[in-house]
Parts: sequence; structure tokens; C-alpha cells
Amino acid sequence: MTSISKRVAGLSLFVVATVGAQVRRAPITAEGVVRGDSAGAVIAPAIYGQFAEHLGRGIYDGVWVGPDSPIPNTRGFRNDVIAALRAIKVPVVRWPGGCFADDYHWRDGIGPRASRPVRVNVLWGGVEESNAVGTHEFFDLAEQIGAKTYVAGNVGTGTPVEMARWLEYLTSPTRSTLANERRRNGRETPYTVDLFGVGNETWGCGGNMTAEHYADLYRNFGEFVRSPQSPRIVKVASGANSDDYHWTEVLMQRAAGQMDAMSMHYYTVPTGNWDKKGAATSTDQSLWMSTMVQALRMEELVSRHSAIMDKFDPKKRVALYVDEWGVWHDVEPGTNPGFLYQQNTLRDAVVAGLTLNIFHAHADRVRLAAIAQMVNVLQAMILTDHDKMILTPTYHVFEMYTVFQGATQLPVTLDAPRYVLGDASVPGISASAARGADGAVYVALVNLNPAQASSLALRLPGVQATKVTARILTAESLGAHNTVVAPTAIAPVAFTGATLRAGVLRVELPAKSVVVLTLR
Ligand code: AHR
Repeated sequence: MTSISKRVAGLSLFVVATVGAQVRRAPITAEGVVRGDSAGAVIAPAIYGQFAEHLGRGIYDGVWVGPDSPIPNTRGFRNDVIAALRAIKVPVVRWPGGCFADDYHWRDGIGPRASRPVRVNVLWGGVEESNAVGTHEFFDLAEQIGAKTYVAGNVGTGTPVEMARWLEYLTSPTRSTLANERRRNGRETPYTVDLFGVGNETWGCGGNMTAEHYADLYRNFGEFVRSPQSPRIVKVASGANSDDYHWTEVLMQRAAGQMDAMSMHYYTVPTGNWDKKGAATSTDQSLWMSTMVQALRMEELVSRHSAIMDKFDPKKRVALYVDEWGVWHDVEPGTNPGFLYQQNTLRDAVVAGLTLNIFHAHADRVRLAAIAQMVNVLQAMILTDHDKMILTPTYHVFEMYTVFQGATQLPVTLDAPRYVLGDASVPGISASAARGADGAVYVALVNLNPAQASSLALRLPGVQATKVTARILTAESLGAHNTVVAPTAIAPVAFTGATLRAGVLRVELPAKSVVVLTLR
């Protein structure tokens, strides 16, 4: 802690004011600089990617209701969900898994729906997989959303020839038997496969491999990821499980030349204990704190994996894709444990904000991320209930942050007191700034402290703005969330606690809040 923050933290502990019946602490004071005179990397829009797996109600009910459903749909996909996803400018969708990908055989999902085989989704609840959503449906979904396609291939139970044939079926403009089969199934022109993942979690559900074994398999399978289409397909290697740095070291050493990107997966487990993760809607402050501790690990993980990649790829040609991330709570009571259905609260929104800020700070290497998952699974954007749909607090953060897609990151330094609870301590505020293509400067501030507001002063060298507008997402309760009965219990509103004068941005940042400011 610096001398300023010690001084300020000290003050905040002792200054209290009585407001009505409530005793409120005075806001903590923090200072910082947003360097408008120095530019960082461009924040790839794909950092705002989504992951949609055949898991629980993620696909069926979530996005797909079928063309005959009374729920308004376009070729089987729900209109309400598609419109909501378009509104957050989803840049890319990863599909069909997840663990499901390494058990998925693409031929099951083509041809007339009525004659597709029914399989058992052994990974997620042992339920029947109708294959109603297959290749053509996924590409239609991506086109309806306006997103790029990121297909995860099957290494665990597949073969290079199966992978190569799928890609030929998808992308070939020729009159080959496979290309003609695609035409007979309704698609004349080739599909654009933007990205292709060579397996998923090959260290676990994707085949229980060692890094050495997978590196060799990657070189083998990866060779057959090709398409006559331009631009060529971005090839993604299945990367490390959280802090498995050995995996990154081996893969980069043996196969960096054959890949465009390497993935990394990290989930925030609030308690740190997979067997008892805690309830999504908990209002317990110690669970809030441990959630923040676990979520902030992303900074170290991204930094250390990037440092290893730098050794083999100093020019940062190979990207790091955090293509599964998010908070993983205990499932909602009474729901199928294999469906990973959880509510989504202000706590998830704060984690989303601070995690996106971490990705912005590492935009030179992290050029795609995919939150798990898009609808009805884990830290979802949207929860559906028959014909109803609600937007989660995490959705609202993604919507507020759309201004950062494609913006140029600006360095931010912040001297703010830490949020301390018992023996645990984390930075009190997470901040990020960027200059948009429209010339505006955008600043995101996340107050991790659930009990105390902050009073911030940010100097802005190189920022020629005279006006500030802002929006905030916050609520009284730590566990604030939306339901079909109260769908807007927590939603962003205009924020009036910011002023811009003489090159200094002052913000009265409420406790447990996410604020996005626009400076013009
Ligand atoms: O997102 C749920 C599961 O988490 C995915 O299928 C798998 O890749 C990860 O372990």
C-alpha cells in the first residue's frame, strides 16, 4: 500500500456519518491517471465472445425451440434471444463444446432432422441429444446473431479424416461429393469457418492426454484444418487448465509454428472448493470476498501464460484465447446437476467487469475470450423460462462494455485503497480505459468493495474531452438478480456522480458497482 492509500484508508476507517437510521462510512478516496497521450493495443472485439455448448438448456430451450414452436422464432431460433444477443454485438460463438465437442460426430447433425440419430449426452446429465441443432443450424444461428463462427473439433474420439471431411463439407466451393451433399442439405455457397479448435480440454474430458502427447496430436490433426476459402481458418490449439504452465511450455515449444492461437480455461469457483462452490444468490460478504480473490487470479494466469508464450513467440503472433471463463456456482436447487443452471447476480456482474478489464490490459496477447456460457448455463447472458427471457446482470455489463470492442487501450494507473475483509485483501477498484474509433474516451470502473463507496480523481493527460456521460449497474443487495417476475430488478441506469473539469475526472463511485463513462 502506498502512503496515499494508507492515509486515505486510515481516514475511511474512522470517518462515519449518520444518514437517517443508517450509519454510512465516508467514501474512500482514490487517485489515478488515464494516459490519453499513450496508446496500447487494440481491444479485439472477440474478447467479448460467447460459448454455446450442447449442455443442459444452453442450446435446446435456450436458443433453439424448433420451427414449429409457438414461441416466435426464425428457422427454429428464438427471436427474443437472438435480438438480445445482437444488442450486445456478440462477435463470435464457440460451438458445440466444451467437453461435448470431443464426443460429437458431425454427420449426426446433418440431413433431414427427423432422420438424425438420437444420441446420449453422456457428459451432461445423460439426456437424449436429438441432433436437431447440427452444422447448418449452428451456422444459421451465427448468421442471425451476426457473429463469427468458432467450431471446436473432435480429437478425443475423432480422427483427422473426420475433421478434414467436416471442413470440406463446410467450406468447399467444388462439386465434390461432400460439397454436393451440403448443397442437397440446403446450402449452396460454402460456409465461412472463422476459427477451428483442435480439441477441447485435451488434458481432461477431451482425452486425458499429457501435454507431450497432445502437442504431437495437435501437429497431426492441425495439418488437416484447411479450407480453400479466404481468409484462412484460424487454428486454435487446446491449451492449459488454469495454472498448468508446463502445458503451455510444451505446446509452445513443440507446436507454436503450427498454430494461430492457444486456449486457456479458468473458472472462478467462489469458495475455491469444487465440491461446495456456494449459492449463486448468496449475500454473504465473505463469499463475495472469496469470489473476488478467485476471479482476480485471472490476472496472474494471463500474465504467466503470456510470459511463457513470449519466450517462444516474442512478436506475439500466437494469440492466447481464454475461451472458457466465468463464475461457476452450485446449481440452483431442484435443477438437474448435469445442466449447470445457476442464477446470476450483481456479484457475477462485478466479476465480469473486472475480468474484462484484465483482458483489456492484456489485449496484445489475449485476442479472444468466450464466457461460459451464452444462455441458461453457468454465467449466462440470458436465462429463459418457456416463452419468457431475462437479461442477467452479466448481460448488462457486456452491453455497457460494447464501446470497448475494437477500441484502443489507454494505460491507467490507480492508487486506491484495498478492500480488506478478515485476512483477505484485494484491490478496491478495477479500472480500464480506451479510445474508441469515434474519438471518445471510455473509462470502466468497478468497485469491488461491497460496503464502501469511493471518491476518485483521475487526471487525463492527452484527453481533449469537455463532457462526461455515464451509466451504472448496481443494487442494494449483494445478491440482486432478475427473475421473470421482476425482470429489471437490476439493470443499468444513467449515472450522475461524475464531473469533468480542468482535465480531471471526479467520480463518486458507489459500493459494488460497475460504471462506464464516456468522455467527449
Ligand atoms: O463449460 C462447462 C465445461 O467446462 C466445458 O464443457 C468444459 O470444457 C469445461 O470443463
